[in-house]
Amino acid sequence: MKNKKTLYSFSIVAATLLITLASCNTTPVSAQAKSCKAEVQPVNPPDRPILVGADYYPEHWPEERWETDIKLMKDAGFNVVRLAEFSWIYMEPTEGQYEFDWLDDVLDLLARYDIYAIICTPTAVMPAWLAQKYPDALATKADGTRIVWGGRKNNCFSTGTYRLLSERITRAMAEHFKDNPVVIGWQTDNEFGGTDCRCSICRTEFQDWLRKKYGTLDKLNQAWGNHFWGLEFTTWGEITVPDNRVGRWASSNPSACLDWQRFTSWLNIRFQKDQIDIIREICPHHFVTHNLMPFHKGINYYEFTKDLDFVSFDNYPIWGAKRPKISYRAAAAADFMRGLKQKNFLIMEQTAGPHGWSSLQRNPWPGEIRLFCYQQLAHGADGQIWFRWRTCTAGREQYWHGILGHDGKPLRRYKEAAQVAKEYRKLDEHLKGTTVRSDVAIIYDYDTVWALQIQPGYPANNFEDVMRRYYDALFRAGVNADFIPTCADFSKYKLVLAPDLYVLRDKVANNLNDFVKKGGTLFTDCRVGVKDENNLCHPRTLPGLLSKALGIRIEEYSAVADKVEYKVSGTDGFPGSFTAKHYVDWVTPENASTLARYEGEWHLKPFAALTKNTYGKGKAWYAGTVIKEDAFYDQLIKNLLEDAAIHPLIKPPLGVEVSIRQGNGQKLLFVINHTEEQQTVSVPVGTELLTGKTTDGPITLNTFEVAVIKL
Ligand code: GAL
Repeated sequence: MKNKKTLYSFSIVAATLLITLASCNTTPVSAQAKSCKAEVQPVNPPDRPILVGADYYPEHWPEERWETDIKLMKDAGFNVVRLAEFSWIYMEPTEGQYEFDWLDDVLDLLARYDIYAIICTPTAVMPAWLAQKYPDALATKADGTRIVWGGRKNNCFSTGTYRLLSERITRAMAEHFKDNPVVIGWQTDNEFGGTDCRCSICRTEFQDWLRKKYGTLDKLNQAWGNHFWGLEFTTWGEITVPDNRVGRWASSNPSACLDWQRFTSWLNIRFQKDQIDIIREICPHHFVTHNLMPFHKGINYYEFTKDLDFVSFDNYPIWGAKRPKISYRAAAAADFMRGLKQKNFLIMEQTAGPHGWSSLQRNPWPGEIRLFCYQQLAHGADGQIWFRWRTCTAGREQYWHGILGHDGKPLRRYKEAAQVAKEYRKLDEHLKGTTVRSDVAIIYDYDTVWALQIQPGYPANNFEDVMRRYYDALFRAGVNADFIPTCADFSKYKLVLAPDLYVLRDKVANNLNDFVKKGGTLFTDCRVGVKDENNLCHPRTLPGLLSKALGIRIEEYSAVADKVEYKVSGTDGFPGSFTAKHYVDWVTPENASTLARYEGEWHLKPFAALTKNTYGKGKAWYAGTVIKEDAFYDQLIKNLLEDAAIHPLIKPPLGVEVSIRQGNGQKLLFVINHTEEQQTVSVPVGTELLTGKTTDGPITLNTFEVAVIKL
């Protein structure tokens, strides 16, 4: 890369800035705004088409190549690139001296080809000079040693040094790019999610955070149950960073571990907020977003995304699969991302080729990367950016392929990407103002996710796997779902699924009871309501405050050893024979009826595997075990949908996905064939927007083919 030099000197006295920093907001997020509502900017204002483009790294290539790249993007129909998230060193090659000319040149070229830019704060990789000069910027590992510089995402989020340097580069960039018409918005950093630093500054910050949260040590000792093992603190300074290793050797108090997790999540949020405040002050006309990771457990994304205009995420659905398979997880990820702000989202990194840091994963087959785009569009994406434009020849991601290969030629994947971009132009007008609306909600709660990580209860228990049993069955039934936090308004939904809702605050339990009483259908399952918000066990017989609504009593329960299975058979209303594994609640129905029971095991005979209760005007279901067969979950979802009076528009064949986007007087039905076989699906009267053909009855979809039908 050839750099022209424009130097912006900042003479900053570190001490002054440290004073500024000391006055920064340190209110724990948990103590901040409790509301689930947030004012948001849509991904695209009315005059901007659906975004489609590439993550572009001009700094990896000679300047002479840039125009060829950008022209190729234009020819493909791209209208956006993301830039600069790892180029701090090129923007601030020595401390306080800024060089943006090279990026200005790229932006000029983009302007010439009518392509927008999203620029990133570059704090995911600190320059070498920074690590050398300010070693406390590097995170400290659990063994007390510092991370050695040489990769990325290795900073401490507490140290004033790194926070100040981050604010300074953000301010310099914002000032420099604020009036550039090509720039439409910002991505903060890259995939926030760490670093679990254990330095002395983090420890002191943790103590301060706890002091703000609890006020007195008595309250903290009580909340954490520090009478156990006599772990009472007598001064704040005694508080240590808990050992939050997952598994049987973790010995720290689970309540301390949960607060540590909340604290580290908050550190990330605070770090990002410092950048966002600067961008909003200087560039109020730009959007701010961040590229999230599907179901990442490090940060409470509900809190984290409150500060963003909209959510973006990185979609890599091919992991270890030998051949294409139904990407349930990518659909769930999209619904989850939409749920964070109850708004459409952007795909900031979209799979463009084979993945791999050391070894290659499978190359997406013809039609597959197009399918990934339509799947996301169907679930509320308002644009998508391929990762990456051209496969790099150097560094750890040499095998993480882009739209172009190492050779830079516009080949098969380029043509497929161009096809998508051109098709999006046909859909623009129809997609405007549409999103997914669902009658079904799945509760996704970070306290639960974290508490299960700290103590899964039974070894196979993790929230994502549990949730997916139900989500995948909804997918197979052709029904959209929203993911919601525990503070959401349940009355917007007909059916609420609360799988494994392990941490259950009394208020939430009461809201769920009310939801059922007023006519809602609730489903929940084993380990619900075991813990309170401090990660202490509720001193109640399970399922605690939900007992009346569920009409059951659970006095005892048992984990089930690996390879041990029990037979379960459905009763009249719930046909089929199934297999229970992992865990069994010894459920005694009180008012509830038994829909499935254990067979063959005398000790389980008195107990129910699946129950249903009528409570007020609604119904409440409970599954007391984990069932092996998908057929169980398919039957369950069928029954739940019937109880909730939800009637899917189409019952798709296995492997065909159905999703509806609606709003603004439009209703668009997406039908996506994830299989390698031809599939026939019966659809209502409408117009297929990609072909312009009228539909009414069966349509045939070839391998990976999609239909977007305007109803
Ligand atoms: C993402 C990350 C990108 C790139 C990609 C491939 O998680 O945001 O920067 O590293 O993975 O490894």
